[in-house]
Amino acid sequence: MADLYAQLVNTSIGRAVSKQIGLPRPVPLERWAPGQALVSGPVLFGGVPGGRLGAAITQVLASVGAEIHTPMQEDIRTAVAAAGAGAKLFNPDATPVEQRFKALLFDATGIGSSEQLKTAYEFFHPTIRRLLDCGRIVILATPPGACRNPPEAVAQRALEGLMRSLGKEVGHGATAQLVQVAADAEGLTESTLRFLLSPRSAYVSGQVIRIAPPKAEIELGELDWERPLSGKLALVTGAARGIGRLIAETLARDGAHVVALDVPAQRDQLADVAAQIGGSTLPLDITASDAPKLIGDHLEQQHGGVDVVVHNAGVTRDKTIGRMSEEQWTTVLEVNLSSEQRVDHELFGRGLVRANGRIVCVSSISGIAGNAGQTNYATSKAGVIGLVEAYAPSLSASGQTVNAVAPGFIETRMTAAMPIALREAGRRMNSLSQGGLPTDVAETIAWLAAPGSAGVNGNIIRVCGQSLLGA
Ligand SMILES: NC(=O)c1ccc[n+]([C@@H]2O[C@H](COP(=O)([O-])OP(=O)(O)OC[C@H]3O[C@@H](n4cnc5c(N)ncnc54)[C@H](O)[C@@H]3O)[C@@H](O)[C@H]2O)c1
Repeated sequence: MADLYAQLVNTSIGRAVSKQIGLPRPVPLERWAPGQALVSGPVLFGGVPGGRLGAAITQVLASVGAEIHTPMQEDIRTAVAAAGAGAKLFNPDATPVEQRFKALLFDATGIGSSEQLKTAYEFFHPTIRRLLDCGRIVILATPPGACRNPPEAVAQRALEGLMRSLGKEVGHGATAQLVQVAADAEGLTESTLRFLLSPRSAYVSGQVIRIAPPKAEIELGELDWERPLSGKLALVTGAARGIGRLIAETLARDGAHVVALDVPAQRDQLADVAAQIGGSTLPLDITASDAPKLIGDHLEQQHGGVDVVVHNAGVTRDKTIGRMSEEQWTTVLEVNLSSEQRVDHELFGRGLVRANGRIVCVSSISGIAGNAGQTNYATSKAGVIGLVEAYAPSLSASGQTVNAVAPGFIETRMTAAMPIALREAGRRMNSLSQGGLPTDVAETIAWLAAPGSAGVNGNIIRVCGQSLLGA
C-alpha cells in the first residue's frame, strides 16, 4: 500500500509545511540495483591512533572503489598508502562546506578509556552535517567482553549509546551502525562493510553487529562479490509471495539456485517464482510430520545437500490470550518455530548442510518487544531468537552460521490490512519515519547468507529503521 503521507511531505508545499510545524519528513530511501556503485560518494575514514582496523577498512574501501578522505591522522594515512589507495586530506577548518560525504567511518578500536571517547566527538562534531542524504555512519569497535581491561571495556560499551543516538539525530534517510570486530576477525569485515555502506542496508539502522572468527578452519578462497552465491543451493520457505518471494529473487540474483518451498495451495504462485528466477519448487506444508524427511530427501537426491536455509514461512493468528483458541496458539508455534527446529534437526542430522553453510531465520520486532494480541506470534518469534542463540556456538565449531533478521514495519499484505491508526504509527515510529520494503529484509538475508559473512554468527539483525519498539 502506498505511503501517501510520505508522498505528500515530499512535494514542495508538503516539505515547507512539514518543516514549519515539525512533522517527520521521510526521505525516499536509496535502494541498490545491479550495476550501481556500492558507495555513491566520498567516504571519510577516521579513527583513533592505535586502532586495529585501519588496514582492513582501507582494503575494503579500495576494493569497492570508494573515494577516500581522511583527517590528518598519521596511522590511517599510512594504512591507506600501504593499501596503494590514495586519500584526500580532510581538514574541518579548511575544507569547503560543499565537501560532503556518503559515509562516515570511524575506527574506534583504539579507544581505551572513557576520556578517549572525546576522539569520537572530535570526529563526528565537524562532519555529521556533511553527511549526504541516505548516508552511512559505521563505527568499528572491539566487543567489550574481549577488551584487555575494564576501562577499555567501559569505553567500547559506551559507543553503543553514541551510535544509537547518531542514528536518531542524523535524519535524511541516513543510518548508523556499530560493528564489533573480535581479535583475529579483522580480515572478515568486508562482506559486512559492503552491506552496511551500500543502499542494500537501506532500512537497517541502530544495530550492533558482532564479527568473530569461526571456531573451525574454513577455506573461503577467492570471494566473488558480484555473485557471492554462485554455485550455491538455497532453500527458502514461504517463497510464494511477500517477503519470501523477494528473498528467493535476491538469492537468485546473487547466483544461488533456489528451491522455493510453500504450501501446496500456493503451487501456481510458487511455479511462477521458480520460473522467474530459474529455480525449482517444493510444494509442501512444513508442519506436516513427514515434511523434514521429504525436504531432506529432495535436497539430497536433487542437489546433494544445501548451502543456505532461509526459514521465512510464518503466520499470524492474532487474539488476546484469553480469547485465543488452542488451535490458534498451536498453528503459530508450529509454523513459526517448531517446524524450523525439526527441519534443521533433520538436515544437520543427515549431514546435508555443507561446509560454510548458513541458516537464516526470520524473527520479528514482536519477538523482541512483545505485542498485545500476539502472545502466540511473539512467543514463536522470541523462540527463533533463542534458536539462533542456542545453535550459534556449535555451528561455529563446524564453520557454519545461524543468524536471524527481525523485521519491523514492512510494507506487505499483512501490514496493509492493519487498521489505519496502527499502520501510520508503525510507519512513523522509527528513525527513518517510514515502513521498510520486502527487499530490505531480503538484502539483509542475502548479506548473512553470503560465504564472506563467515564471521557473522549468532546475530539478530533488526530490519526496522531503528524502530522505537523494543529498543
Ligand atoms: N510483513 C511484516 O511486516 C513482517 C514483520 C515481521 C516479521 N515478518 C515475518 O516475515 C515472514 C514473511 O512474512 P510475509 O509478510 O511475507 O507473510 P506472507 O503471509 O505474505 O507470506 C508467508 C508465506 O509463508 C507461507 N506459509 C505459511 N505457512 C506455511 C507452511 N505451513 N508451510 C509452508 N509455507 C507456509 C505462506 O503460504 C506464504 O506464502 C514471516 O515469518 C513473518 O512472520 C513479517
